Amino acid sequence: MNINKIKENLRTKILGMELIYNESVESTNKLLFKLAEKGLEDGTVLISDEQTGGKGRSGRSWYSPGGVNLYLSVLLHPEVSPQNSAVFTFIASLALVKTLDDLNINSQIKWPNDLLINTKKVAGVLTEMKNEGNNLNFIIIGIGLNINLSIESIRENLADISNSVTSLSIERKSFLDREEVAVNLIGYLDDYYLQFKSEGINSIVAEWSNRWGKLNEKISVKVDNKIISGIVRKVDNYGFLYIEDDKGNLEKIIAGDIQS
Ligand code: BTN
Repeated sequence: MNINKIKENLRTKILGMELIYNESVESTNKLLFKLAEKGLEDGTVLISDEQTGGKGRSGRSWYSPGGVNLYLSVLLHPEVSPQNSAVFTFIASLALVKTLDDLNINSQIKWPNDLLINTKKVAGVLTEMKNEGNNLNFIIIGIGLNINLSIESIRENLADISNSVTSLSIERKSFLDREEVAVNLIGYLDDYYLQFKSEGINSIVAEWSNRWGKLNEKISVKVDNKIISGIVRKVDNYGFLYIEDDKGNLEKIIAGDIQS
């Protein structure tokens, strides 16, 4: 990856003033976390061309071959309670959606933090934080975006989920400039971080809810092997979902897998 091309084209106010690049790391989230414990400035971005142990959510791994995709972590020092950390996952999803909009690729957000193109996952977000009690020390937003990953590579290396994974090049039927995509994504992350700072959590949650598009729609969510169905009434500032069942009860969903 040509990191100088990214540096030269960034037009951000906070993100990427400090930009760290590696050819290969185990996990950008893991490395940035370690570096942040010793002290790094707000908005530091770490990018790696390849990850040998990319982390996904719920202990899963994130397939991270070199030369094709984007693996990026951002360090933030926001003034917010650890309970509100979901807002940073929303910021990442919104920035990804905007980046894809600019490429004329229509994407859908899947609560809480997957990004899909025609029901197939193209990006994932893993937000991690360090806190002491109720004080947030720092937060790390990790984003993996499949850019030029080929269908052959998906079939070979992600056989069991190959029908539910895609990349931008598969959808666009042409290769994309990874540096350009990175510049746009970091730019939108910067915009939303500034919006969060000036307008607060509500404005991010409202924009995310709008773009998600499921408010007042009927959905089903799988929670611990139980299916909960109902109308989505709200997403709160903690990122929780409120679904009204047909008896009028409001169910709060903290984590689950949306079926429809
Ligand atoms: C998911 O399971 O959907 C989240 C995947 C997050 C992957 C990204 S790639 C960059 C950053 N570093 C990691 O180890 N994971 C995140």
